[in-house]
Amino acid sequence: MKICCIGAGYVGGPTMAMIAFKAPDISVTVVDLNEKRIAAWNSETLPIYEPGLDEVVKTARGRNLFFSTDVKGAIAAADIIFVSVNTPTKTYGVGAGRAADLRYIESVARTIAEVATSPKIIVEKSTIPVRTATTIQEILAAHPRAAKCQVLSNPEFLAEGTAVADLTNPDRVLIGGERTPEGEAAIEALVAVYARWVPRERIITTNLWSSELSKLVANAFLAQRISSINAISALCEATEADVDEVANAIGKDSRIGPKFLKASVGFGGSCFQKDVLNLTYLCEHFGLPEVAAYWESVIKINDWQKRRFAANIVKALYNTVADKRIAVLGFAFKKDTNDTRETAAISVCRDLLTEQANVVVYDPKVPAHEIVADVLGKGAPANPRLTVAASALEACAGAHAIAIVTEWDEFKTLDYAAIFAGMPKPAFIFDGRNILNLAQLRAIGFRASGIGK
Ligand code: NAD
Ligand code: UGA
Repeated sequence: MKICCIGAGYVGGPTMAMIAFKAPDISVTVVDLNEKRIAAWNSETLPIYEPGLDEVVKTARGRNLFFSTDVKGAIAAADIIFVSVNTPTKTYGVGAGRAADLRYIESVARTIAEVATSPKIIVEKSTIPVRTATTIQEILAAHPRAAKCQVLSNPEFLAEGTAVADLTNPDRVLIGGERTPEGEAAIEALVAVYARWVPRERIITTNLWSSELSKLVANAFLAQRISSINAISALCEATEADVDEVANAIGKDSRIGPKFLKASVGFGGSCFQKDVLNLTYLCEHFGLPEVAAYWESVIKINDWQKRRFAANIVKALYNTVADKRIAVLGFAFKKDTNDTRETAAISVCRDLLTEQANVVVYDPKVPAHEIVADVLGKGAPANPRLTVAASALEACAGAHAIAIVTEWDEFKTLDYAAIFAGMPKPAFIFDGRNILNLAQLRAIGFRASGIGK
C-alpha cells in the first residue's frame, strides 16, 4: 500500500511519521510545496520541535517514510491521499476574521482531480468546516479525467508538545465516510491502517458530516473549559479564593474531570481561536445567531484574559512601566513546542511595548528573529525596546519584573534567590501559567502574583 500526505506541517509530519513507524510495509510519502520545510524534514534538524519525534522519524525515514516536493508524482502513485494543508482564518472578503480560508484545500482537490487517474481514497486530515467533503467531491466529479475517488474525514486530535504520545496512544481515532458500499470499503481500508497499533474499540466510524463537525466541536469544548476557568480566575483575584484550589475542587467531580482546568494568560496555538471562530461563522451561516454568540464569548474572554495579564503588570508596577525592563520568560504558545502561532506572549509583549517598557524575551526553542517578527510584524522596522536574550538569567538580570508566559520546565528550577538579588527593588514576578510556588517567592522578597491569586 502507498500513502501520500499533502502538507508537511505540525500535523502531516508527525502523523505520517507515526504511520510509517508502526507499519513498515506501507510506503508513506509526505509532500509539500515549501522546499525549505521538506529539506528540513530530510535533515538532522527537523522543522518542528516535538519530544520523541526525532527517533520516530529517524527510524522510518529512508525505509518507508519519504519527504518530497513532488506533489503530483506522490498523488499519482498513492492509494490513500491525506490532505493536511493549513486552513487558517480568512483575512479577506466574505467571512473575514471568522470563516476558514479553504483556498489550499480547494487547490489540492484540483491537483488531485488533474493527476488521479486511478481510484484513490482521499482523507481530510485538516480541520475544515462541516460539509467541505462536498466541495472536494464536486471538484473531482467535474474533472473529465479524474478517477472515482472516495472522500473520508479523519480529523487529527494530537496536541503540540505531546504529539508523539498522543499519536502512539490516542483516546480515539475518528473516521467518517459515506454510508454506501464503496464508502464503507474506504472506511475499512483506513481503519486497517490505524488498527496496526490502535485498539479497534478506539476507532470510531461515523458519517462524513458528524466526523467533520466533531473536530470543531472538540476544540470548542476544550477552549470553552479554559475560558471558563480563566473567567473564574478574575473572580478569585477579587475574592482571595485561589483558582488552582477551585479547579482542583471542581475537577474531582467525575462529571467535570480534572483536565483543561488550568487558569492561564489565555489559550494560544493555531487552532482553538481559528476553530471556534469557524464554528461561530457556521452557526451564523445556518441561521443560528444565538449559538454563534454563545461560542463567540469563549474568544472574548480569552482576549480579555490576555489583556488583563499585561494590565495587571502595569498596575502592580505603580501604573507605569515606561523605561522599565520587563523579562518575558517563554514565547511559544505552550511548553515543548517551537510553535508561536496565536501565542498569548505576542499580545503581552505588544501591550507592554505600548506602555513603553523595555521588553526582554527568552524562549528555549523559538529563534530571536521569529520572536521579533511575531511581535512587531514581518518586515517591520526594529524597535530598540524589544530584545531577545540567550538565557532566562540574561533576560532577568536587572529587570524590574519577570512575567512567566510559557510553562517551560526550566523556569521552575531557576535560582530565583540569585535572580532576585540582581533586580531593582521592589522586584516583581508574574506567573501567567501558575507553575511557581508563589509563597516561596514571596518569602525571598518578590512581589509575587499569579493568575487567580
Ligand atoms: P502547517 O501550516 O504547519 O502545515 C501545512 C502545510 O501545508 C504547509 O507546510 C504548507 O506549505 C502546505 N501546503 C499548503 N498548500 C499546499 C499545497 N497546495 N500543496 C502542498 N502543500 C501545501 O499546518 P498544521 O499545523 O500542520 O495544520 C494543518 C491542518 O491540521 C489545519 O487544518 C489544522 O487546523 C489541523 N490541525 C492542526 C493541529 C496542530 O496541532 N497544529 C492539530 C490538529 C489539527
Ligand atoms: C489543541 C487540542 O488540545 C488538540 O486536541 C487539537 O488537536 C489541537 O488543538 C488542534 O486542533 O490544533 P494544542 O493547541 O496543540 O492542541 O495544545 P493544547 O494543549 O490544547 O493547548 C492549547 C492552549 O491552551 C495553550 O496555550 C495552553 O497553554 C492552553 N491551556 C491548555 C490552558 O490555558 N489551560 C489548560 O488547562 C490547558
